[in-house]
Amino acid sequence: MAALMRRYGVGARWYDVLSGERPVYRAGRQAGIALLALSPGDCVVDLGCGTGLNFALLLEATAPSGIVIGVDRSPDMLAMAQRRVDREGWGGRVRLIRADAAELLSEAVAQAVIELRGGGDGRADALLATYALSVITEREEAWRRARATLRPGARASIVDMQPPHGFWRVLSPLARLACATGGADISARPWRMLERDAVDPSSVRRVERKGGHIVAVAATVSASDVPR
Ligand SMILES: C[S@@+](CC[C@H](N)C(=O)[O-])C[C@H]1O[C@@H](n2cnc3c(N)ncnc32)[C@H](O)[C@@H]1O
Repeated sequence: MAALMRRYGVGARWYDVLSGERPVYRAGRQAGIALLALSPGDCVVDLGCGTGLNFALLLEATAPSGIVIGVDRSPDMLAMAQRRVDREGWGGRVRLIRADAAELLSEAVAQAVIELRGGGDGRADALLATYALSVITEREEAWRRARATLRPGARASIVDMQPPHGFWRVLSPLARLACATGGADISARPWRMLERDAVDPSSVRRVERKGGHIVAVAATVSASDVPR
């Protein structure tokens, strides 16, 4: 736990440069966001948002009035995310919440949504978690609480990692090293929670990138059985 806090603490400043974003992981976030099929004005909760690498893509997909609520436990990652928001002038469309995902209060998210939208019931239209649920140890509880922030009929997208397959298996040691460096459990396959909790199996969409190392799964999920 202490190592994880250090990794996303002092390491936050270098995350965008050292995380393999351009050569590898950007492809996953692009795929995961595309699978959400967002509409103008949608509100997206970005769980474990880190330094905010999803924000530009999410704001573009929901333009001109869509909003993003970024949730993360690390103050240092959130500080980098806030710098990005300030630099890009996204203050009217992005709010950051510091919280452990396993203790996230849907009321906190609802309050941020209402503030940004200037009213409404505070429920989000979509949920995105990129490379976060494999790092979050209490992922079932985090997933349960994240779903509680959603309106009925909302879509969710989980993008995460597994060992590559086929020809790309030769890159497995590198993939495992990347995951270990980031504190991710490469065997977690968190998208299975989404496949399990999809309202309708026919709503599930799945794509793989980088030889199967990155998996993006999206589906319509039910929030009705989760207490707010
Ligand atoms: C590998 S980074 C991914 C960041 C971002 N989603 C991205 O795609 O670049 C994992 C993030 O999960 C956050 N995290 C880890 N455990 C968490 C928890 N229990 N609750 C909230 N955030 C957590 C870390 O602080 C870190 O920012």
